[in-house]
Amino acid sequence: MSFIQLPTGEGSAPAPKVTAQTLFARKQAHQPITALTAYDYPTALLVDQAGIDMVLVGDSLGMAVLGYDSTLPVTMDELLHHTRAVRRAVRRALLVTDMPFGSYHSSTEQAITNATRFIKDAGAEAVKIEGGRTRAALVDTLTQAEIAVVGHIGLTPQSVHRIGYRVQGKSAAAIDDLIADARALEAAGAIAIVLECVPREVAGLITAALTIPTIGIGAGPECDGQILVFHDLVNFTAAPPAKFVRRYADASALFTEAIQHYASDVRSGSFPADAECYHLPREASADILPREPS
Ligand code: KIV
Repeated sequence: MSFIQLPTGEGSAPAPKVTAQTLFARKQAHQPITALTAYDYPTALLVDQAGIDMVLVGDSLGMAVLGYDSTLPVTMDELLHHTRAVRRAVRRALLVTDMPFGSYHSSTEQAITNATRFIKDAGAEAVKIEGGRTRAALVDTLTQAEIAVVGHIGLTPQSVHRIGYRVQGKSAAAIDDLIADARALEAAGAIAIVLECVPREVAGLITAALTIPTIGIGAGPECDGQILVFHDLVNFTAAPPAKFVRRYADASALFTEAIQHYASDVRSGSFPADAECYHLPREASADILPREPS
């Protein structure tokens, strides 16, 4: 199997590592931050080499690659396993991992223990947790434990049974709540906040109210950066795309054609061809072949 070269940056100097400070600087300079999910080594290699700033091992892996119907069943062990694979590939991007549902909800001790595993055992550089003011104290505690935290407000998929998969922040009260949530996360030390499925005008208000960057998904161009699920970007999914998804490739069509072509070549006998076979050395084949079946 051959994979592409690790990133080296322009010329011979390695590309500078993206850190939380890079993200703050990007916001200040009005330079959009790029972010994508990755759950495995080859995808992470491609994403990192393409110069994407932030790689998220999202709990969306539950739907994107594990076949669950929500993010809720995703376990610590699954996210640790995928984070380790992504860690082996990522050199430049900031590597963020989602804390799965149930891994930070029981107690502060549970949250610190689990977040520490992502940083210490799996090599993540930050963890992402869902929720606003209700999670601010936890964000503060994790930050004090030297664990960088990315917040996530708006549509929070781990709250699906409470809020559904709906655009959030559509009334004056809901907008006030979102701004208060974002401010609380910033005050608690979050290094960035993912805004999912909120009206672009609201994302603009939140972005303007904060010094830390906002990373939008379905939140419009006023955010300081954008994130998409890699499998949505390249159409490697059976799910219909959400309104905010732009397809940049059609991996499903490409792979289907390749699989059908392979199957047809096997059935017709045209695969494997002689050039795709190993052969005995000429001298050995003279001794060995032809042989009578014993
Ligand atoms: O799990 C995930 O992929 C996410 C993104 C949608 C931001 O949280």
